[in-house]
Amino acid sequence: MTQDELKQAVGQAAVDLILPSLQDSSIIGVGTGSTANCFIDALARHKGFFDGAVASSEATAQRLKQHGIPVYDLNSVAELDFYVDGADEANAHLELIKGGGAALTREKIVAAVARTFICIADQSKLVDTLGAFPLPVEVIPMARSHVARQIVKLGGDPVYRDGCITDNGNVILDVHNMLIHDPRRLEEQLNAIVGVVCNGLFAARPADILLLGTADGVKQLKA
Ligand code: A5P
Repeated sequence: MTQDELKQAVGQAAVDLILPSLQDSSIIGVGTGSTANCFIDALARHKGFFDGAVASSEATAQRLKQHGIPVYDLNSVAELDFYVDGADEANAHLELIKGGGAALTREKIVAAVARTFICIADQSKLVDTLGAFPLPVEVIPMARSHVARQIVKLGGDPVYRDGCITDNGNVILDVHNMLIHDPRRLEEQLNAIVGVVCNGLFAARPADILLLGTADGVKQLKA
């Protein structure tokens, strides 16, 4: 199977997993990226089984609307049963690196609200140790150099993602050359740097379920 077919398979598997729990009033948290797009396209075939969605990015909101799925502001939603999103890397504890698409902050907010976070990914995303994928950090623009210096002190090599402005009007530093043996600690250390809005480690709130697309079918992993 190609990587695209694996992404479609996990997108469909996520829909199959949540469908029995959906009600007319259900609102679903939806992530960002090519795998999340496969989920959106599969979900759109079941309009009428749920109310609408909360989007983790402007791009996702646009795709949902193109499918005729109502998009709600998170502040108008009391609860979310599910958040479904991709990842750049996942480990066996379902801790993640996210933010390759620069949507990490809104993704982390929607994931925090959802009762169940279902991560969907092809098998290339499963790693023993997080960090081969450069860790995205969203930063207030005027703090970019300060934050970069603090990241160097933590042992990383921050690289400014040239030309990238997030949906929140901020910039991204991608942290290279950091094998992350304690994701939860690093997530806290990065959050403590003044000027950091959010970092792409999802360890304090990992996924609850990982649907992993493999050549042998979709496997379900739980932490
Ligand atoms: C978006 O900011 C990211 O967190 C994505 O969820 C992540 O980059 C995975 O994207 P793909 O599904 O396109 O690989």
